[in-house]
Amino acid sequence: MRLAVNIDHIATIREARKAREPEPVAAAILAELAGAHGITVHLRGDRRHIKERDVELLRQVVSTKLNMEMAATAEMTVIAARVRPDQITLVPEQPHELTTQGGLDVIANRAAVSEAAAALRAAGIRVSIFIDADSAQVAASRDVGADAIEINTGGYSDASPADRPARLEEVQRTATAAAAQGLEVLAGHGLTYVNIHQVAAIREIVELNIGHSIVARAALVGLERAVREMVALLE
Ligand code: PXP
Repeated sequence: MRLAVNIDHIATIREARKAREPEPVAAAILAELAGAHGITVHLRGDRRHIKERDVELLRQVVSTKLNMEMAATAEMTVIAARVRPDQITLVPEQPHELTTQGGLDVIANRAAVSEAAAALRAAGIRVSIFIDADSAQVAASRDVGADAIEINTGGYSDASPADRPARLEEVQRTATAAAAQGLEVLAGHGLTYVNIHQVAAIREIVELNIGHSIVARAALVGLERAVREMVALLE
């Protein structure tokens, strides 16, 4: 199972002060040194955290796999074709959402998704589509030419303990359907150190995208050392 680390939150901390640090490129290097198999960033239309400059630098530095999440718009497709990440993940995007809300409805947005996927593939970029656990969305993703799907595990992660087995089963069914249709199967959203095991056990899933939980843990496990280093400077 491969791990792609989403480092958007590193840029969110930087933007809290419009400062130079923390530098997402440094975070990407550390994640790779720790064994990450890929780095993921979401270039949003509002550029609230990751900027084009970040993606350009990451393209030069990331030596594993650079995955850029983006909306299926003409503006983003042009940027992707110029920067050439290894993979683009097409996601739905709402201006005021805190994080991606649900998977992309490929059926309802077939024309825009097809157009973006064709342009990206023509530029030599792998195309993944973030979809809910739904076999109709799997078939539509294959039809528009996706190489991979990323199953939205948000429903599983947010489910009550009573509902969780059913949501896990949906993820499993979707993974089976996608693999049977020749799509590479990825998954992510809301995965944590506590809920990861059952998703990681799904055989058809080859890569997980995880952001919030890793950066949240980094803030806590790194805090003691950061304070000690500042205290030492004051002694
Ligand atoms: N996959 C997609 C498509 C996402 O938009 C996100 C959040 O940016 C993730 C995975 C990672 O989710 P989380 O930050 O909850 O681990």
